[in-house]
Amino acid sequence: MIRVLPAALVAFALALPASAQTVSGDRDAGRAKAGQCRTCHGIDGIATIPIAPHIAGENFVYLQTQLRAFRSGKREHEIMSVVAKTLSDQDIDDLSAWYSAIEITATIPE
Ligand code: HEC
Repeated sequence: MIRVLPAALVAFALALPASAQTVSGDRDAGRAKAGQCRTCHGIDGIATIPIAPHIAGENFVYLQTQLRAFRSGKREHEIMSVVAKTLSDQDIDDLSAWYSAIEITATIPE
């Protein structure tokens, strides 16, 4: 039985990248729609206020999942729950396509 587990884990790991590449949003439409997010997250996804997270370069699937969760109430936040209520599936896909397309670099401190 113990040999079954690693095989299942490998299959799961192999399946992940494929599903993560399903980007269905329109990046340019997302850029236009991101005007309503810029006060807090910036048009470039770099947060402009301390309580908001940077979302530039975040994975498409992650962004889509979080926005859907705010909209459904699965994830709650006083601001984002209100913002997400106004978003359609297409809006969420477009915004996720925009913010995930921004290239970022990280520099590790010396
Ligand atoms: C008034 C400020 C404000 C606006 C406008 C706003 N957000 Fe947020 N957003 C926040 C804050 C604050 C959080 C952190 C929520 C928490 O702590 O759980 C957040 C969280 C998020 C997250 C989760 C990030 C993570 O790391 O889990 C996403 C995705 C997101 N916002 C996308 C958007 C998008 C897209 C828009 C525009 C449609 C938008 N937000 C508009 C303040 C804002």
